Amino acid sequence: MEDIILLGIGGHAHSVVDSIERAGKYHIVGFLDLEEKKGIAYRGYKVLNVDSQMEQFFRNGVENAFVSIGYMGHGALREMLYSDLKKIGYTIPNIVDPSAVIAEDAVMGEGIFVGKRAVINAAAHIGDLCIINTGAIVEHDCDVGSFSHISVGSVLCGGVRVGQRTLIGANATVIQERMIGSGCIVGAGTTVRRNLEDSYTVCCRDDTRMVRNL
Ligand SMILES: CC(C)(COP(=O)(O)OP(=O)(O)OC[C@H]1O[C@@H](n2cnc3c(N)ncnc32)[C@H](O)[C@@H]1OP(=O)(O)O)[C@@H](O)C(=O)NCCC(=O)NCCS
Repeated sequence: MEDIILLGIGGHAHSVVDSIERAGKYHIVGFLDLEEKKGIAYRGYKVLNVDSQMEQFFRNGVENAFVSIGYMGHGALREMLYSDLKKIGYTIPNIVDPSAVIAEDAVMGEGIFVGKRAVINAAAHIGDLCIINTGAIVEHDCDVGSFSHISVGSVLCGGVRVGQRTLIGANATVIQERMIGSGCIVGAGTTVRRNLEDSYTVCCRDDTRMVRNL
């Protein structure tokens, strides 16, 4: 098994650890996180050092790293860590739970997490560092921009385009061929029937309550 180091020991990291263990491809060396988290552990994997020490592990032969911080609309840290990892030369694989289904011709970036029973269907494209969470469905021909999070149980119908850094909330649905901009938040349970420009939050059972993000 190849070694991998994880950045961030929060709640989302627990899902990532479980999927890594189930897939059996990587051996988790431990976590990097904040100074005050040093020494805490999940399933025996400890926070070994602070994020800024990531290069030390690469020099010691750990070639793989993964950003295991979740995304709820504020992703500057995830993007910064990703960029630092790339500069050092880490390989940033996709972590895909064995129960997920990804079509042969789906195009995947890197650093993506695909959770349990998620589906990424034919000719879909998923950008770098996206989270396709538990039970989410990304239908055929969808395009999801980098750093976005398609939350648990949500559905992107065929041909939907989602910009970068957008959060599609739990159990939300976007109907076919719609375009959701970058930096948007679609509230949990919302059905989106129209296009959404960049930087809008939309929530409600349908998409009638819409505000522009500050
Ligand atoms: C949309 C969302 C971002 C709004 O958060 P917020 O800005 O903190 O808003 P508030 O909770 O203060 O709610 C503001 C109003 O919108 C309503 N509202 C909030 N979220 C809603 C939703 N998903 N559907 C319908 N109404 C919603 C609230 O009831 C409240 O109504 P009121 O003004 O009449 O009292 C948040 O509720 C949400 O849905 N986040 C996504 C969570 C998620 O999917 N997590 C996935 C984890 S994997």
